[in-house]
Amino acid sequence: MGGSDVGRMRVSQAGPLKGELTLPGDKSITHRAIILGSLADGVSEITGALRSEDCRSTARACNAMGAVVEEVEDDRLRILGCGLMGLQEPREVLDAGNSGTTLRLLAGVLAGQPFFSVLTGDRYLCQRPMARVAAPLRSMGATILGRDGGNLPPLAVKGARLKGIDYVSPIASAQVKSAILLAGLFAEGETRVTEPSLSRDHTERMCEGIGLPIRRDGLSARIERPTMIPSLDLTVPGDFSAAAFFVVAALIIPGSELAIRGVGVNPTRTGLLDALAAMGATIEVSRPRIISGEPVADLFIRSQALHGTEVGGALIPRMLDEVPAFAVAAAVARGHTIIRDAAELRVKEVDRLAAIARELRRFGAELEERPDGLLLRGGAVLSGCACDSWGDHRMAMALAVAGLSAKGSTIISDPSCVTSSFPDFWARLDAILPGAAAPSTN
Ligand code: S3P
Repeated sequence: MGGSDVGRMRVSQAGPLKGELTLPGDKSITHRAIILGSLADGVSEITGALRSEDCRSTARACNAMGAVVEEVEDDRLRILGCGLMGLQEPREVLDAGNSGTTLRLLAGVLAGQPFFSVLTGDRYLCQRPMARVAAPLRSMGATILGRDGGNLPPLAVKGARLKGIDYVSPIASAQVKSAILLAGLFAEGETRVTEPSLSRDHTERMCEGIGLPIRRDGLSARIERPTMIPSLDLTVPGDFSAAAFFVVAALIIPGSELAIRGVGVNPTRTGLLDALAAMGATIEVSRPRIISGEPVADLFIRSQALHGTEVGGALIPRMLDEVPAFAVAAAVARGHTIIRDAAELRVKEVDRLAAIARELRRFGAELEERPDGLLLRGGAVLSGCACDSWGDHRMAMALAVAGLSAKGSTIISDPSCVTSSFPDFWARLDAILPGAAAPSTN
């Protein structure tokens, strides 16, 4: 199975999803653990870390600056940190691959280093806006150059002795917030970030968990330079964003009864559950617990009839990465669904509003693309088709879900991009629905 070297995947209409799943570790938390562990004194142990291409990009970059990030058994990482001021100038360009989190968070760290570095990425990442991090980091004192007037990668970063800023971000972006807070670890005085609505708060939680001088107040977080960073001993919960595809599949495929164990349910991430509840879904969230400072629970999903709804405002940052999966649910729900205030989706790995609109139409969904969202007319009986992931992992997985519920079979091109966040996706699908997804030979 695997899928990493397969040109196309055939997904067939499938029977119910039954049984239990656990999912790979949270991507956002894994990135942050690698970065903070690399800046820590001593050895950090990260259990349940995600082993995906995006996280490996962060690990490779940290290794290139003198940390030792090692994959030890199964899902554990051991990190020998350099200490807060111990990173060394990398000899080579740091390649973030497809990972915006790698590039933006590391830009924050590099802004505070007494050396020069260059950050680049793949052809998708090199088209994504970086001014959102470069501008505030410049105002802290770093020199950052890039294509398109300093907006597009590669970015050349000449670190400096930073000064704390009080930054009011125009967008609710955890990457922007985290880049500035990480730069704040090296800055004189206090660094404060305020966002228009709360984006994922894993950086804040992790910093709090190891006792760094961080404080939060509503939509603001402020940090001061610590004297050192203690090592981490952390367990990463299952990735809610990976769970999302199985949640939607189980809801829309009749007869499904699926339990997903040990998923991160940080409220800054679970907007999809609220959106689905507004569509009439009841998803059981049980055994709530806190693991390494993050809320974790088990989910139980039964297939249910859904109706249209409207999502926008502060809910969008809480379900940002789940919009492709949500759109599949909305396409088959009864009645209209409107997604608004979601223009940020246009600057993800690809323009996800355009990608969803084009690909779901191929299945027979009726929808309208809007500048900041989508109008899905709902009630579609999806038909299998040939569709394209656009090289975007979340698109590939959302199309797989559409394919499972569509009549006949669906051919998804470029399915191997799932390696960014969920390398085992196709194998997991095959395990829970044997034969539903297989590499296509024609
Ligand atoms: C992420 C933040 C979000 C999200 C991305 C991961 C993070 O991006 O879409 O997949 O780990 O901080 P933005 O900060 O650009 O909204």
